[in-house]
Amino acid sequence: MKNIEIAPISRIEGHGKITVQVDDSGNVSDAHFHVMEIRGFEKFLEGAAVEEAPRITPRICGVCQTSHHIASAKATDQVFGLEPPETAKKLRELLLLGQYIMSHSLHFYFLAGPDLVMGPESDPAMRNVVGILKTNPDLGMMAIKTRKIGQQITATVGGKPISPVTAVPGGMSRGLTSDQQADLLGKAKEAIGLVEKGIEVAKPLFTKYAEAIELLGPIETHFGALNKNGGDISFYDGNMKVIDPSGNPVHEFAPEDYLNYIEEKVQPWSYMKFPYLKQIGYPDGNYRVGPMARLNVIDNIPTEKAAELFAEYKENFGLAQNPLLYHYARLIELMYSAERTVQLLEDETITGTDIRQPITEQLMSRDEAKESSETRRGVGMIEATRGTLIHDFETDAAGFINRANLIVSTGQNNLAIDIGVRETAKKLIHGEEVSEGLKNQLEMIVRAYDVCLSCATHAIDGSSPLEVDIYDSEGKLLKKHLL
Ligand code: MG
Ligand code: NI
Repeated sequence: MKNIEIAPISRIEGHGKITVQVDDSGNVSDAHFHVMEIRGFEKFLEGAAVEEAPRITPRICGVCQTSHHIASAKATDQVFGLEPPETAKKLRELLLLGQYIMSHSLHFYFLAGPDLVMGPESDPAMRNVVGILKTNPDLGMMAIKTRKIGQQITATVGGKPISPVTAVPGGMSRGLTSDQQADLLGKAKEAIGLVEKGIEVAKPLFTKYAEAIELLGPIETHFGALNKNGGDISFYDGNMKVIDPSGNPVHEFAPEDYLNYIEEKVQPWSYMKFPYLKQIGYPDGNYRVGPMARLNVIDNIPTEKAAELFAEYKENFGLAQNPLLYHYARLIELMYSAERTVQLLEDETITGTDIRQPITEQLMSRDEAKESSETRRGVGMIEATRGTLIHDFETDAAGFINRANLIVSTGQNNLAIDIGVRETAKKLIHGEEVSEGLKNQLEMIVRAYDVCLSCATHAIDGSSPLEVDIYDSEGKLLKKHLL
């Protein structure tokens, strides 16, 4: 019996590892994807004023800040019973698109791309962004430029290039000037051209690596994503639609009803929870989210170039199940994001000044709220770059958070990743000697999902206990603290 460990998994966001157990006859008996870090924000949010949530939750992660900012802002709208004006909704969507352009280009070119551009078994010293810049400088520069345009949208619309601050309960705290509109519009048009060139380079890779696409991590699951207008792709709003592994619709529900459909399970090998479809059960109710899931769930992309790419993708892959196709779907979404950004910036109402519905209702004082059993609740659901993201806050009558539940994209893919890694390890590993290239192929399964582990690990419910040892300056153990 031998235990093979792949740790840490590189070119992902956060800390995770893969373990593979090989029995005495050289066959894989078990394998798992483990997440060892814990962020615990569900707990940290308790006691905070709910209007602060849109500024607290972006600190969960260095990549997905805008997604958390907007999901939290939408939850606070509901807590205070507010409906943001149309311009505010468009500005929030624009801000989210900045995140998509930044994150999807970062992932494809810098994190996952090296496996496909340099090859899964190429020298690991070159199988990274430096390798791409050395061997394919044009592609590298395109990546840097595209990502920068995403950051500029975040900075202008969100007020800061990282951890944006402008989405507030009921709308936005500031609008867009016509100078800013013109500046961003020029950049968004440039982004379309850059993405087009990137896709030209990337598309042939999916033919070249057709075998790897079949081999790495295949699994059949349900899929979930927001959609609106009866099947359009939607990142900012809409209902969550769930389809079964053959593509038949199973559920469609409003964000605030998600607890009737989604439940979370804890497993001993990971600090990341395992959400599943409640009415189907665990593990059959396994479902996936994110770019490939979105393109499976929706019927239509309402922008020109992305719609063409989508039609071609559908024709080639039908209902996609193989995780490496997440990369392809991500590129199509990158095109949609650039085109949709242009659409929003060409809309003259984007510079409107009616951007916030104010809070007029008088809340209870904190002392009054302590005596009251009245609670408030808000659920914000969006499509973050990595998949459906839910922020659910329950507050007391003064608006301070009693309970926070975060269901983060990566968690919803956890079970599929775990099974995909195990099944692929069983197919590929025979004997105790495992090459670096083979280990990398297992990592490629995890990378395909663009996992963000910082975002996804908040379980502190006693079922996966975390013990913190506290020492004094002399190194003497003072106490053991069980979270
Ligand atoms: Mg949760
Ligand atoms: Ni993240």
